[in-house]
Amino acid sequence: MTTLAYTTSETYSNHVNRLIEVYENAINAISTNSCGPISHIESVLIHSGRAGHYFGDDRSIPFQAYGHFSHWLPVNQPDQFLHIRAGEKPTYFQIIPSDFWYEQSIDLPDWCAEQFQLVTLTAANQLPRHLQGKGIAYLGEQPGLGDSLGISADMLNPQPLLHYLDFNRAYKNEYELEQLRAANKLAMTGHSAARECFLKGGNEFQIHMAYLSACEILENECPYTNIVALDEKSAILHYQHKRRGSRADSRVLLIDAGCRVNGYGSDVTRTSVRPNVNSLFQQLLIKMEQLEKDLVGLVKPRMDYTELHSYTLRTIAELLVDLEICSGNATELLEREIPQLFMPHGVGHLLGVQVHDVGGHQSDQNGAILPPPPHSPALRNTRELRESMVFTIEPGFYFIPLLLEPERNGSRAELFNWSLIDELYSCGGIRVEDNICVTNTGAENLTRQFEVGSQIDLRKRN
Ligand code: GLY
Ligand code: MN
Ligand code: MN
Repeated sequence: MTTLAYTTSETYSNHVNRLIEVYENAINAISTNSCGPISHIESVLIHSGRAGHYFGDDRSIPFQAYGHFSHWLPVNQPDQFLHIRAGEKPTYFQIIPSDFWYEQSIDLPDWCAEQFQLVTLTAANQLPRHLQGKGIAYLGEQPGLGDSLGISADMLNPQPLLHYLDFNRAYKNEYELEQLRAANKLAMTGHSAARECFLKGGNEFQIHMAYLSACEILENECPYTNIVALDEKSAILHYQHKRRGSRADSRVLLIDAGCRVNGYGSDVTRTSVRPNVNSLFQQLLIKMEQLEKDLVGLVKPRMDYTELHSYTLRTIAELLVDLEICSGNATELLEREIPQLFMPHGVGHLLGVQVHDVGGHQSDQNGAILPPPPHSPALRNTRELRESMVFTIEPGFYFIPLLLEPERNGSRAELFNWSLIDELYSCGGIRVEDNICVTNTGAENLTRQFEVGSQIDLRKRN
């Protein structure tokens, strides 16, 4: 995990103090709210998680710490524990096994260490003698471990506590924004290198390596599996392969790749084309880039995120008509849910220590749910926008045979310009994705401020 030297102890100290406040408020709200039959919570023990191994082997599965742990500490190691008690400096139980097979030491920067009472142990089973009193709630992915520590069943991942914490994780403080900006800055360095590699005729494998190398990161340090898709593969939303072999005649690159800084991830997509790409696809790319910028321009406090999604579907309906990919008018296409065949995903999601961050469907901290509209079940965020909330905006437009082919002989077949669609299948698709923070009047684009050149400029250069 990349750790930045410039992080000030002041913003991190404010972050930890804010978290202490949120946890104390959560505990108070739950005990006065009678949200369910849970015992009174006096303290919270957060577990980073357990290392997993492939079956029958001692080879470990890449580890990613539990989100509520990463929220406190930039330590991506299994079996780390944080104990939060009202009125006390939080205790970090740093478990460092005596082990000569792997490096086990943890480099904790001073600005981080000074916020905690540090207790170093060699195994998790030494924890109980340090945990006094009842009323400990366990948060983590191994409730069985909480059980073995003597924590009662109703205090293992208590839902009311998780609802409260999940909901509030959407709002970022200055420390968190510093990490998110740094994660975007690094990713944009990688995107620039990836695009250069594509324009020189690189294949998916080479473009992927160009990205990692420019960011100086290993593959398992990425916040998610890089999507590096040339031509028709860019219509596979989470395309996972990296094809080797000559791809010098490729015309479209869709790369969705982020970076992680102190646990916070960026999630950025760029689509680039060669000058000899299908001209209609090139027009579509220009329109989609404009749509993405327009969406960012609409962001303001108090609007509903679902409005951004609706605006996207309407614009796609209009593009379908304007570019003669479909007949009819935009309203009719919307009513018949045609845009969703070209953009089957939501326009974005909350972002933070997890790339698809928690709480996107919560309408309050008590756990009330605001589901996505029936016409867009994949929409991951339905929240009302508030200052300091961070999410992605990622409109897409794809020619996906799996979704379009069944329409060829269906009741909506007459709406599609099939010869054009057949031509465009080879171009795949487009996605443009930025990371956005809501300000008191609009939006800060955490991504564009670090853009190196632009796709349009590059097209002119070639
Ligand atoms: N990188 C996955 C997504 O954009 O949601
Ligand atoms: Mn995303
Ligand atoms: Mn993405």
